[in-house]
Parts: sequence; structure tokens; C-alpha cells
Amino acid sequence: MPRVNGIPLLGAGTYPLMGEDARRAVLMAVELGIRHIDTAQMYGNEKEVGRALAESGLPRSSFHVVTKVDPGNVGASRFAASVARSVEDLGGPADLLLIHWPPEEQEFDAALDRLMAEKQKGHARAIGVSNFSPAMMRRAQARCGGAIVNNQVEFHPLLDQSRLLAAARELGIALSAYSPLARGAALKPAAIASVAARIGRSPSEVVLRWILQQGVIAIPMTTKRENALSNLSALGFELTAEDMAAISAIGTKQGRTISPAWMNGRWEP
Ligand SMILES: NC(=O)c1ccc[n+]([C@@H]2O[C@H](COP(=O)([O-])OP(=O)(O)OC[C@H]3O[C@@H](n4cnc5c(N)ncnc54)[C@H](OP(=O)(O)O)[C@@H]3O)[C@@H](O)[C@H]2O)c1
Repeated sequence: MPRVNGIPLLGAGTYPLMGEDARRAVLMAVELGIRHIDTAQMYGNEKEVGRALAESGLPRSSFHVVTKVDPGNVGASRFAASVARSVEDLGGPADLLLIHWPPEEQEFDAALDRLMAEKQKGHARAIGVSNFSPAMMRRAQARCGGAIVNNQVEFHPLLDQSRLLAAARELGIALSAYSPLARGAALKPAAIASVAARIGRSPSEVVLRWILQQGVIAIPMTTKRENALSNLSALGFELTAEDMAAISAIGTKQGRTISPAWMNGRWEP
């Protein structure tokens, strides 16, 4: 599997899977060869993810496990204890530890310092952020002396993230695409259907390929074996420059699936 900044290009999302559903989905992904698993303190499934990895029989070192510090845990009193719990639940250090949502201004730098401290402690092999704007990425990268390897953000053809991608490239930060299928909405545009029909691929393969071909990591979530296999097949073909451009033309700045109230006015600059 190709990697970007050490992160396998295709992973498996686990939100909103809980309990047995999470355990089963992770085991299925692992059985199909996926080693990159995305979880978060917020999802309430780190224990089940850890259990599935242990049950797989593969060494923990063969996995790339990503988890994220919950906004309620970024403060001084909870950060370290919350990460220690994640490490215990996941059966070892996070391969990549992210700050899940941008901290408030007064906590911003301190939260990044705490993230760095977890790396120094060995609780995280690498560190990154999630839902950060270009300016926030720049500030985080400066604060952490270049240690930020990833920004996990919503990324699919309905949302124009070209400015964010250009800034990430300039900063040496890999983007990971969450909700890469826009929870199904990205499969609907006529331009996607027409490319898919012409090249004999499914709309989901075309959407994922468009993401991967830009060097952006994708973490689609699925509970179905046939969908997981189809998602993996996006690694195995190429889109022409014309098809890439036609799909890129669909996106708008308003195309978000996930836009919580606390992010109003914070996606830019
Ligand atoms: N950092 C953040 O703030 C953040 C926010 C949101 C999500 N995430 C992460 O990103 C992951 C993925 O995002 P998401 O779950 O929101 O959305 P998504 O992956 O775009 O969509 C998931 C939906 O697509 C379906 N699906 C998957 N593969 C398919 C295929 N090949 N063909 C047709 N349908 C398919 C799944 O249903 P079936 O089960 O029926 O296949 C599921 O209903 C999450 O699980 C989570 O780990 C992170």
C-alpha cells in the first residue's frame, strides 16, 4: 500500500460504529488487507477497535492506527490522561494522534504543546490535526517545528478544498479525506456517473480514485465486504487529466456535509 508522510493511502473509518459493529467492521477491513484504521475518543469505540486488532492475530506493529483527542480533553487537566486511556484501549501507542477540532484561541498553542509532549512520551509515533484551516495549519506547523504530518478534513468532489490542499502541500502536511463519499451524496452528480459509465467503474471507485490521485489519503467507512473491496480497487487504476478536471469542476465552497455550529467563521482563512 502506498503511503503519504508514512500514512497508508487507504484506511477504514469507524464512525459511527459502536460495540460489536465496530469490532466486526475493523476485523473485516483487516481481513481484506486494510491496515490503516481511523478512530477517535469521540467515537466511543477505541476499546472495540483495540480488541479487533488484537483478535486479528497480526502484530500491533503491522497496523497504522489513528486516533483523535476529543475537544473536551484538550485542556491541561485532561489531555495526557485521555491519551493514556486511548493508548491502553488501542493496545499500544497511536501511530498518528490528532487534535480532533481546532481548539479555542486561548488554548490553541498550549494544546499543540500537549500534543508534542505525547509524541515525546512515546504515546504517539506521529502527530497531526483535524478540521484545521490553512492559517491554523500554518500556525500549528510553526508551533510544532514541522512535526505536523497530517490534517484530516472533509474532502470529496462536492467540496472545493483546492486552497487547503495547496497550503498543506506547501507545509509538508498530508491531507486525509474524511467522509470521502460525502456519506453517499458524492456518488450522485451526473459528471461522476458519466465518467464511471465510460470507464466501467462504479461512482464510488471514481470518487475515491479522484481523491487518491491527488495524493490525498482516504478513509471511507463501510460495514459491507463488497463495498470495502470496491473501495480498495480505487488503488488500482488511473483517471485521465481530463476526467480529474471534470470532477474537480463540481466542487463548491458550500459543499460541506459536516459543519457544526462551533466552526462557523473558522473554516477560513
Ligand atoms: N475528523 C473528523 O472530524 C471526521 C468527521 C467525520 C468522519 N470522520 C472519519 O471518516 C470516516 C469516513 O467518513 P464518513 O463515515 O462520515 O463518510 P463516508 O465514508 O463518505 O460514507 C460512509 C457511507 O458510505 C457507504 N459506503 C462506503 N463504501 C461504499 C461503496 N463502495 N459504495 C457505496 N456506499 C459505500 C457506507 O455504507 P455501508 O456500510 O452500507 O457500505 C456509509 O453509509 C468516518 O468513519 C470517520 O472515521 C472524521
